[in-house]
This record gives sequence, C-alpha cells and structure tokens, in this order.
Amino acid sequence: MTISYDNFSGAQLQAIDSAHHLHPFTDHKELRRAGARMVVRAEGPYIYDSEGNQILDGMAGLWCVNVGYGREELAKAAYEQMKELPFYNSFFRCTTPTPVLLSAKLAELAPQNVNQVFYGSSGSEANDTALRLVRHYWALEGKPTKRIVISRRTAYHGSSIAGASLGGMKGMHGQLYGAVPNIVHVMPPYSFELAMPGESDHDFGLRAARAVEEAILEAGADNVAAFIGEPVLGAGGVKIPPASYWPEIQRICDKYDVLLMIDEVITGYGRTGAWFASETYGIKADTITTAKALTSGYQPLSALLVGDRIAATLIDKGGEFYHGYTYSGHPVACAVALKNLEIIEREGLVERVKNDTGPYFASALAERIGSHPLIGETRAIGLMGAVEIVKESGTRLRFEAGNAGDKVRDLAIANGLMVRSVDDTIIMSPPLIWTREHVDLACDRLAKALDDAEAGLRRAG
Ligand SMILES: Cc1ncc(COP(=O)(O)O)c(C=O)c1O
Repeated sequence: MTISYDNFSGAQLQAIDSAHHLHPFTDHKELRRAGARMVVRAEGPYIYDSEGNQILDGMAGLWCVNVGYGREELAKAAYEQMKELPFYNSFFRCTTPTPVLLSAKLAELAPQNVNQVFYGSSGSEANDTALRLVRHYWALEGKPTKRIVISRRTAYHGSSIAGASLGGMKGMHGQLYGAVPNIVHVMPPYSFELAMPGESDHDFGLRAARAVEEAILEAGADNVAAFIGEPVLGAGGVKIPPASYWPEIQRICDKYDVLLMIDEVITGYGRTGAWFASETYGIKADTITTAKALTSGYQPLSALLVGDRIAATLIDKGGEFYHGYTYSGHPVACAVALKNLEIIEREGLVERVKNDTGPYFASALAERIGSHPLIGETRAIGLMGAVEIVKESGTRLRFEAGNAGDKVRDLAIANGLMVRSVDDTIIMSPPLIWTREHVDLACDRLAKALDDAEAGLRRAG
C-alpha cells in the first residue's frame, strides 16, 4: 500500500479525526466525546472496523455500493484511465472518450424519452443543475413566471443550498437562513403516519397526490415550473407510496403542464428491481437525477438525465447555458461507471432484485420482523426496506423517549448488521449482490437487536 495508515492504531486515528475532521450531519461535540467508528476495509457485502468487527452492510455504504466491495475490475478501470488521461475538462468544446461512451450507455438504459446527460460529482450538484434547467426551460419557452417547484416534506434532495431548499427536512431548513425562493412543500405519501383511520391505501395515495394539485391551484399553474420527487422517499424513511400515488401525480402534472423532476439518486441503477424506479412506477420524467450507484460509490459521479422536451428547447433556443462543474464528465469517474454498469448487466443484478431477492426481502421482513412485538409495520420494494418501531405491535403508538430507532440501530450494529435510523424507523438498502442467505442473516441480526432493545425501551417508556 502506498498511502500507509498501518502505523496508526484505530484509537490514534480516532483521536486525529476528532482533532481535525468535521463530519457531515454530525453533532461534533457528541462525536468528539464518543469517537467515530473507524471502517478500515470491506469485502463483498461486509465492512470491517478497526476493532476487527465484521459487519453486514445493510446500507450499501450510503445507498451506493450496489455491486459490493472489493471489485478489482473497478479499481483497474480507474487505474488504466488515470494512466491514460487522469483529467481533462468538458468545457470549451472539449470532451474525452469515457463520458461520451457513458452518455450513450445511459441514453440506452434510460426511459425512451430521456436521451441527454449532464454530469456532476454528487446528487446535490445534479439537483442544482436540474433546478436551473427547468426554470431556464420555461424562460426559453416564453413563460418566465413558471418558477415554483413543488416538493414534499421529509424529501431529501441534497445538502447544497438548492438541494436543501428543494428537500423537505425541517432541521436543514432551520439552518438555511434564507432558502432558495419559490419552492413549496406538501405532504409526503406516508400512509403509516398520515392515513386517516379506515382510509384505504388507494384513497390515501390519491389524497396525498391531490395535495400537489392543491398547491398548483393555489400558486396558479402559470407560476409552477415543476414537481420534484423521489419515487420512494429514501432518507426520509423509505416511505413507499401507494400504487395510486404516482399515476395521479402524472395526471396532475400533465393537466397543468408542470414538469416532473424525478430524483433517483437512491433508486437509480437497479434498487427497486428496474434500472430506474420511474419504470417501476410508470412515471414519464422530464429530468432524472442519478448519482451513487452509477459508480457503486467507487468514484464520485452524478448524471442528470434530461428528457427530450427540455433538451430540445435548451439546444435549439438556449444559446450558451452558463452552468457546469470542473469535474463534469470526469474521465476516471466515467470509466468506473461504464465498468460498474457492465458488472450490473453481466451479473443480472437488476433482474435478481426484481424476481428473487426483492420479493424474498419483503416477505422475510414481513414474516420474521413484522411479528416482533416492537414492530408496527414493515415495507419494502426491491432491496430497500423499512420497519417501524412502536410500543404495541400493529399500532402507530410510539415510545415517548423518541430514541427507540437509535437504540435499535446501535444494537443492530453491535450484532453485526449496519442499518440506519430515521426517528423510530429503521431503514435498509443493501448491496444488490445480497443473496437470500444475506437477507436471512440480516433478519436474524435485526430480530436479535429488537429483542435486546425491548426491555430497556419498555422501562424508559
Ligand atoms: C434522493 C437523494 N437526492 C440527492 C441526494 C444528494 O446526493 P449527494 O449526497 O451525493 O449530494 C441524496 C443523498 O443521499 C439522495 O438520497
């Protein structure tokens, strides 16, 4: 190894981390008191920490390492590209071979009406591009008042000022000190908490979608540029919409000529058992934001996939679009993406999720976790899932202390399963290489964590 940290113990690295490293989404005083978990290596579906613990990674890194860890082919693709051409920009009428080939591949994989790609290095950047593009589109079409974007509460669209403004996270908005204007938020399709007693899933889905229509009518359709949504709200708690939701959103957007910005940063490249969740839900998107699994996290890369309607206007009427990033179309990241997509195709991972591991994951969660006395609901689509922790099985009654999710998450990790908590929801998004055996192992460890947590949670009330 050329960059050696072998001379440092885990404890030493933790101390240096505390001295100099500001982490994302972290209470730094708390982190400095407790120290960070030092993940030092990974192989296949497992990560290993500096204490020597092997942990089954139920989050695929951060919704991204879909082909699993330790892929030599991806390391080689990066190495070969770095030797040949580590960087050149794609400004000023220049280009390099790998983003060219990747763009063609993405146009082939994307839904039929989506054939153009704009690159960045993160989902946040790609959503910033999407926001600028849809507003610019309407200006070019002679409708500059169409500027408002409708989003949902608890949506996550990134952490740049545009991303955080588009997102619907209360805590983030509290720290924006001036959000990007003309973004409004409506209810998310979260039936577990928001459906009324006796309301069917179907009716709740229609009601949640019609909140978008009400927002359009309130603002006036002439002022509304787009609706933005994750097909499944991910970081907000894997909120899976009822089947009636997206068709109704599509109908409403078509009726009022409102563009559809679909954020597939989590769902893109196979997670729901289709290349894009837009296919899973039959959504006709005008922009599709992708990142994360495009390279399985081996390189930072985002691709905003742009539909023909917007692209035609931008190209024909747009002149110069004053927007781009130094690393737009980075040759090394694009080389890794090409190889990663080849692996996903060669190993049939999308089909495996659709036909085998996805349905197995849903039924394993329902049968083996759903029967636990602390569980109010389990849900899954493809390889993303959630379980709701409650006081009484089958109800929505939460523990008052409000930290049941964190407690169960910590115990799951202690039992060898990496999961994430969003309030009192435990969420999972494992690598697509998981087999039924990995699903079983995850259920064993999560059930054990729930058993371990139960007495303490009940005592705390
Ligand atoms: C749906 C969605 N959009 C955007 C982002 C932001 O991506 P990044 O963290 O790469 O900026 C995320 C990150 O988790 C996401 O889940």
